[in-house]
Amino acid sequence: MNLESILFTQGFGSRRQCRALIGAGRVCVDGAIRTDADADFATDSGALRFSVDGVEWPYREHAYLLLNKPVGYECSRDPQHHLSVFSLLPPQFAERGVQCVGRLDQDTTGLLLLSDDGKFVHQFTSPKRKVPKRYIATMRHPLDDAQLAALRDGVLLHGEISPSAALDAEARDTHTLALTVLEGKYHQVKRMIAASGNRCEALHRERIGGLALPAALAPGAWQWLDEAGLAALRAG
Ligand code: URA
Repeated sequence: MNLESILFTQGFGSRRQCRALIGAGRVCVDGAIRTDADADFATDSGALRFSVDGVEWPYREHAYLLLNKPVGYECSRDPQHHLSVFSLLPPQFAERGVQCVGRLDQDTTGLLLLSDDGKFVHQFTSPKRKVPKRYIATMRHPLDDAQLAALRDGVLLHGEISPSAALDAEARDTHTLALTVLEGKYHQVKRMIAASGNRCEALHRERIGGLALPAALAPGAWQWLDEAGLAALRAG
């Protein structure tokens, strides 16, 4: 693939802008400045790395990202009341069409996936594909066995015709609930907790499928999801 196309597909602006970046000597491949926008480089091995203004980038046909979402960010490119999660990412990702794989509420924290692979986004957001998602909820009132049983057996949410049940629900301590759900309905976990007779004060997603939020990833930080991460996600 030629250098102009490499930059273009990785979100560095219009073809004209990419050509201009290269012409200005701002792009390096294998440690050398490249000013020929038509120079070809192999992209199929997954090993190509380039840098723009000294910042190194791996070439990726598709971007698969993992973000530790903090409180106060909306999963939208056009947020209404808070900042966008995209403000936590380099602008190249929005430019190349990366979108959130499902949504977390602005006040929910934790594991958020993002990708520009439409098939992947659909696979992991489709209601037909039941992907387990593990949440940790802080409760306003102490948890009791009746609430846990209701969550496991299924609670009827307002406006729904069939009950929503957690795959598992257990108390980590008096006010901390760990639960796994398969669907991704609007405010699902908070509504389930309310329907069980308690109230969710804080919500954190710690796992999707077999993929856990890495302990070393600080709130607001992101990382590429590698092959092992993708496999873990599917294995769950
Ligand atoms: N359930 C909710 O209620 N909120 C989220 O952000 C995710 C799941």
